[in-house]
Amino acid sequence: MTSRALNAGQRIEYIGFMKVRAVVFDAYGTLFDVHSVALLAEQLFPGQGDRLSLLWRDKQIEYTRLVTMSGEPDAHYRPFWELTRAALQFSAERLGLVLNATAEDRLMNEYRHLSAFPENRDVLAELKRRGVPTGILSNGNPEMLDVAVKSAGFADFLTHVLSVHPTRRFKTDPAAYALGPAAFGLPAREILFVSSNCWDAIGATWFGYSTLWVNRSGAPLDRLDTPPTRTGRSLRDVLDCLPTKPAARPAAAPSSS
Ligand code: LAC
Repeated sequence: MTSRALNAGQRIEYIGFMKVRAVVFDAYGTLFDVHSVALLAEQLFPGQGDRLSLLWRDKQIEYTRLVTMSGEPDAHYRPFWELTRAALQFSAERLGLVLNATAEDRLMNEYRHLSAFPENRDVLAELKRRGVPTGILSNGNPEMLDVAVKSAGFADFLTHVLSVHPTRRFKTDPAAYALGPAAFGLPAREILFVSSNCWDAIGATWFGYSTLWVNRSGAPLDRLDTPPTRTGRSLRDVLDCLPTKPAARPAAAPSSS
């Protein structure tokens, strides 16, 4: 029986029995606070910082979906960094803000070094202490992920930093989510996929992961056919989704030769 066949109460019970052996995090919005740019945006455009930050993020994600759904994703793919810049330019124009090259570069530089949410470091350290393999699976291209991970001081805690870049498909395309099981050598249901973006947690659930939606802001659940396996309020809730001891890998079948 899959978790999809269970009602909500049974689903929570079911997760207690899950053999989660690894944890994969979304990056932007989950480990890194995309709205930490609002502070600089507010300095540059008083009274407009939050609006710019929110529209910028929405447009960035919209662009990823448009290129992946285009029917020719290989042709239309552009690295997340470029789409992020394009989304910033659009959003400023949409709000009637004059974005000169200096302001654009300052905001993009801020995006390169986003703040990490405060509880994340402790959670990653605890997962490492418990011997749970961890990773990032993100729309971000490798260069921007590399800087973000290093500047947050997370490099030592992560087994894999997976970018969708080689697939030229953004989440929620299955080719993007398939990177996790391939890297960890585990079926998706044995990997806990953690995202603060509800749509991403649902996309990962559709793909077959066990999922945790970290709903820090108390946002409503997206009205789609599948809820995330579990919903929490902070990254700390990851620790409650794991067996006390990580489930052992099954012993390799004896070779018949
Ligand atoms: C990411 C986007 C969804 O990190 O924020 O993949």
